[in-house]
Amino acid sequence: MDPSNLTGSAASETLLDGSRFIRACLRRPVDRTPVWFLRQAGRYMQEYRDVRKHHTLIEICKQPELAAEVTITAAEKLGVDAAIIFADLLLPLEPMGLDFEFQAGEGPVVHHPVRTAEDVVALRTDRAGELGYVARAIQKVATHFRDRLGIIGFCGAPYTLASYMIEGGSSRSYVETKKLMYRDPTAWGRLLDKLVVVLTEYCRLQVQAGADVIQIFDSWVGSLACADYREYVFESTKRLVETVQQMGVPVIYFGVETAGLLSDMASTGADVIGLDWRQPLDGAWRAVGHGHAVQGNLDPISLFAPLEVIETRVKEILGAAAGRPGHIFNLGHGIVPGTPVENVQAVVRMVHEFRGLRDFGTKGLRD
Ligand code: CP3
Repeated sequence: MDPSNLTGSAASETLLDGSRFIRACLRRPVDRTPVWFLRQAGRYMQEYRDVRKHHTLIEICKQPELAAEVTITAAEKLGVDAAIIFADLLLPLEPMGLDFEFQAGEGPVVHHPVRTAEDVVALRTDRAGELGYVARAIQKVATHFRDRLGIIGFCGAPYTLASYMIEGGSSRSYVETKKLMYRDPTAWGRLLDKLVVVLTEYCRLQVQAGADVIQIFDSWVGSLACADYREYVFESTKRLVETVQQMGVPVIYFGVETAGLLSDMASTGADVIGLDWRQPLDGAWRAVGHGHAVQGNLDPISLFAPLEVIETRVKEILGAAAGRPGHIFNLGHGIVPGTPVENVQAVVRMVHEFRGLRDFGTKGLRD
């Protein structure tokens, strides 16, 4: 490996945190590994809980002033290199004609789930503009940070959003989703096509408002057999990835329990593949292919461990990345309620202070 690619020696000038993050998405050398966290704004943080005392989750999402404040507060408190806009995956369901709510302790509930070909036909695709409140929140965050931090917009991937629409909420086995997929592939294809139309417009709004990068969350794609991913999901997901890239921003494509899907996910052409924590980062990156950047992959629950344990894990991940350009440090899934904020801040310091492989002996040079 070219030693000039090593983190810490790559770029002598100090990069702004925002450009450090975007450069890493594009696999350009950076002076240190950028870091941010999935669900960095959430119930583990007192400031968020204070806002939630007076507003529901949906109210926060729909009031750009509040959504921007929650986004900015979390990013500044943690000292991360990127801010993900505060919104929710399910927001596009509403302009498509599906009402949903978040019930305490139960997660999201979609009131009239999509179960038949007729239900698919009834879905609207012409009202993505109603999601303009997310774009207005992004504008506020972009005005606040300018180029100091990377600004991440996001949307759900077709499969994961379809699963919420069909199951009516979270699921263990995705029986209803897979029933529609197998029994009525035409309706399934139409549903994913409709989602791509709406998600494309939604991402366009976010990019025009100032999002530097779009993350596509395919959180539940790991429930699919590889053959089913290829047959029923890949094509529409690839189309969404490519269309967003044509808007001029890199795409991060993330899922959980994806060890068997990584090379197929990379074939969508996404710039960055988000990794869960279940396999070591070096092997996962090989499966993805070094022509893509990767993001990850600390177990979010390890944030409850003593600092020495956390530090060992953080260094293992940075060592496995081996200073190769194109690593963004993150968790393998979102921060959960109850996580000690100071441990999250400590991880940011550990990543920022890591000065390449001399902190890690030679282990990181494997490959
Ligand atoms: O900083 C951030 O990342 C916050 C912005 C954000 C939220 N949801 C706010 C939220 C993001 C990026 C999401 C994405 C999202 N939403 C995903 C994909 C990410 C993942 O976790 O895989 C999914 C699957 C959803 C759907 C969703 N939203 C569920 C299943 C739940 C309930 C589970 C829970 O944690 O309660 C939500 C609620 C939700 N969305 C919360 C937050 C901060 C917590 C609930 C609250 O504040 O009442």
